[in-house]
Amino acid sequence: MNAVSPPRRALAGAFVLPAALALVTALAACSMPGSTSTSDPRAMAPLQAKSGSAVAGTIWFTQQADGVRVVARVSGLTANREHGFHVHETGDCSAPDGMSAGGHFNPTAQPHGPQGAPHHGGDMPSLKADAMGNAEATFTLDGVAVGTGPTGLIGKGVIVHAQPDDYKTQPTGNAGGRIACGVIVAAPGSEIPAKP
Ligand code: CU
Ligand code: ZN
Repeated sequence: MNAVSPPRRALAGAFVLPAALALVTALAACSMPGSTSTSDPRAMAPLQAKSGSAVAGTIWFTQQADGVRVVARVSGLTANREHGFHVHETGDCSAPDGMSAGGHFNPTAQPHGPQGAPHHGGDMPSLKADAMGNAEATFTLDGVAVGTGPTGLIGKGVIVHAQPDDYKTQPTGNAGGRIACGVIVAAPGSEIPAKP
């Protein structure tokens, strides 16, 4: 018996740990309605300041059954102002004015517009800065995916504009200059930090 017991204990241990992890994962996924899990496909875009701004922040994109959940945390914006906010077609932030990111990501040949009406896949709700110039936003995008296919966001750019998006001027929303740019990169398994 003694020769058999140690392997048997090791085998039992190998099952206990994954079971415990699965339970923790399940609990985390259930903790908040609409919350996402680190096991969901995820990408992120750290922002770089552009056009002489002091904008900083990170945008997370998480694939869910009903679309892509976006969490945006941005600082250094103009206090109490709306800032146009889009996914752009090129993941290139090399230009000091952010123009290297190209036009709005538009995989389905739609006009520029708001959520709930015909819109570019990359059209997102404008960021709303508070009195401190900070913006926090969570919303869901349809028509795009966390991936690298035709509607995929990975490898695309994110732009924060100086002005509000009017959701009707074609093809830009007339949102002014580009004050931050980020490249969307795959970030599987990464955590979205708890709100500070
Ligand atoms: Cu834009
Ligand atoms: Zn657009």
